[in-house]
Amino acid sequence: MGAIDINGLNKSFGQTQVLQDVSLAINAGEFVAVLGPSGCGKTTLLRCLAGFEQIGSGTIHVGGRAMSGPRMHMAPEDRGIGVVFQNYALWPHMTVAQNVAYGLKIAGMSRRDRHARVTHALALVEMGALAERRPADLSGGQRQRVALARCLAMQAQVVLLDEPLANLDVHLRGALEDEFAAFHARTGATMFYITHDQSEAFALADRVAVMDRGRIIQFDRPEALFRQPRCETVAGFIGEGRVIEAEDIVPIGAGRARARVLGAEVELRCAPSETRRKTARISFHPDDLDILADPHRTTASGIGADITRATYRGGYLRTQMTAGPQNRVALTMNIAAHAGIEPGQHITVTLKDGWVIPEARQATG
Ligand SMILES: Nc1ncnc2c1ncn2[C@@H]1O[C@H](COP(=O)(O)OP(=O)(O)O)[C@@H](O)[C@H]1O
Ligand SMILES: [Mg+2]
Repeated sequence: MGAIDINGLNKSFGQTQVLQDVSLAINAGEFVAVLGPSGCGKTTLLRCLAGFEQIGSGTIHVGGRAMSGPRMHMAPEDRGIGVVFQNYALWPHMTVAQNVAYGLKIAGMSRRDRHARVTHALALVEMGALAERRPADLSGGQRQRVALARCLAMQAQVVLLDEPLANLDVHLRGALEDEFAAFHARTGATMFYITHDQSEAFALADRVAVMDRGRIIQFDRPEALFRQPRCETVAGFIGEGRVIEAEDIVPIGAGRARARVLGAEVELRCAPSETRRKTARISFHPDDLDILADPHRTTASGIGADITRATYRGGYLRTQMTAGPQNRVALTMNIAAHAGIEPGQHITVTLKDGWVIPEARQATG
């Protein structure tokens, strides 16, 4: 058994099923992000894990111990799980030190031991100097540090975090991101980190569980989500992915296939199990398109396109264009800032890389 094992979890509120057959096996010490749009069920999943919600069916084990299952439900305080909430959930009437000590006090630890643990935990998140302040007199970032110190003091081996950066200014997020990574390295705790922000998930997590409408649709390393999305939803959700139709897919071995995309002959990556297909959906990203050096040269791999908009983004130009039959396919390309590009221009682009999305039947498992 791993650190967290969720099996066939279902959860409804009244008639609405919010979690559908969720299964996740998370290794001890792993940093896992759960990534999905607002309302897809992330917080509900976290609350089931923490024990704040009864589950409908399925099982939850943490460290091999049954937490939730048929006719059983362990109380949150008995689970040994640390939780960091978006709104920090600090007691307003207690000082920073009292907030961090509270769980230890409930657990019956002596005053002296508590003091040592709290002092150490606050030092680790560099909040020792503010130990006597109240939460109201702290910044958002400082409050989040106190919430982390609370998990440190409890020595929780499993820590759940629900969008802990969502209420913070952009400039603070990077610093706190580093703080979470350092916390993980220091404690070796298993981290279960919920976010709707892909860059956060990718910056922190060993593996990311992509969630959509109550289901986990892919649980994989960030590179795999980016390069080998299992379905169109993941492809479109990750890294500004674009999904379009390709024709005449012919696998040529070594995980590659030839295909026709918007009239051009291209080579794409594909699953080893991929077969010849008349049509398939493929995915790629704005960096996968490139402009052909000589726009008047036509080659079999060239895709004609009309530029609709070009936006200067510092290091690169974000170029929007239309291509394909009746110019109906919108494409976005990031290219090195290039003086010659402007709306109305006709150019020829190539697709340097792309992925043949597996057929649904191959995508399960
Ligand atoms: N206590 C509740 N009672 C009824 N519906 C709820 C409750 N909590 C969450 N929901 C519903 O469950 C769905 C998922 O919510 P939530 O887990 O908060 O999503 P997320 O955290 O991904 O934004 C939403 O449609 C929400 O309205
Ligand atoms: Mg939520």
